[in-house]
Amino acid sequence: MDRIAKTIFKPIYPVIAENAVNETGIREGVCIDAGSGPASLAIAMTEYPFRIYALDHSPLSNEIAVRNIEEAGLSGRITVIEGDIEDIPLESGIADLIVSRGSIYFWKDHGKAFSEIERVLKSGGKTYIGGGFGNAVLRDSIVSEMIRRNPKWEEKYKRNTSDDMRLKFTGAVSKLKHCNVRYIDDDTGFWILLEKRGILQ
Ligand SMILES: C[S@@+](CC[C@H](N)C(=O)[O-])C[C@H]1O[C@@H](n2cnc3c(N)ncnc32)[C@H](O)[C@@H]1O
Repeated sequence: MDRIAKTIFKPIYPVIAENAVNETGIREGVCIDAGSGPASLAIAMTEYPFRIYALDHSPLSNEIAVRNIEEAGLSGRITVIEGDIEDIPLESGIADLIVSRGSIYFWKDHGKAFSEIERVLKSGGKTYIGGGFGNAVLRDSIVSEMIRRNPKWEEKYKRNTSDDMRLKFTGAVSKLKHCNVRYIDDDTGFWILLEKRGILQ
């Protein structure tokens, strides 16, 4: 992923970061990049004044993320955390914004994952979680280049964008008790926008 994120996927991360901020209206505070891999989206989010956590369950990805963050001179802005989205090692109510790109397809139990996401969001906190390439021009050029390089990639792309896959996500999201939900399904990709409501004590 690191090589792809630094070459063919490179232009998508600033676009996705900008889309996340514009769609949610959240531009500061604590941001978690869930399933951050080499931390390309976390790094793009530093364009805005967030304190950022890059969360991934893979020690190898996290090693690469730490190196990329150091090379970008951003060690003071991003903390890499090893942990599973189904059991996030962060306190409840910490996050103003949770972003995540391309990771949701790999989560094992979407019910657990979204209930953890709901737990760590602040009241009024929002998410921009899903997959995509940021806009139609990037999507079309990247999809055709990925298929040219590896024809089997198309199968994976079709599976990830299938109705069956989406039903897994929407089924889990529909069980959340404290979030309003909005979906985006357009040239930017497929994104789940949750907003945590205030909880009456
Ligand atoms: C396709 S990569 C995407 C990486 C990055 N978000 C990007 O767009 O460049 C998916 C990432 O999700 C991580 N991941 C998958 N399941 C996870 C889980 N249950 N908890 C935390 N991270 C997970 C993987 O380790 C991997 O780094």
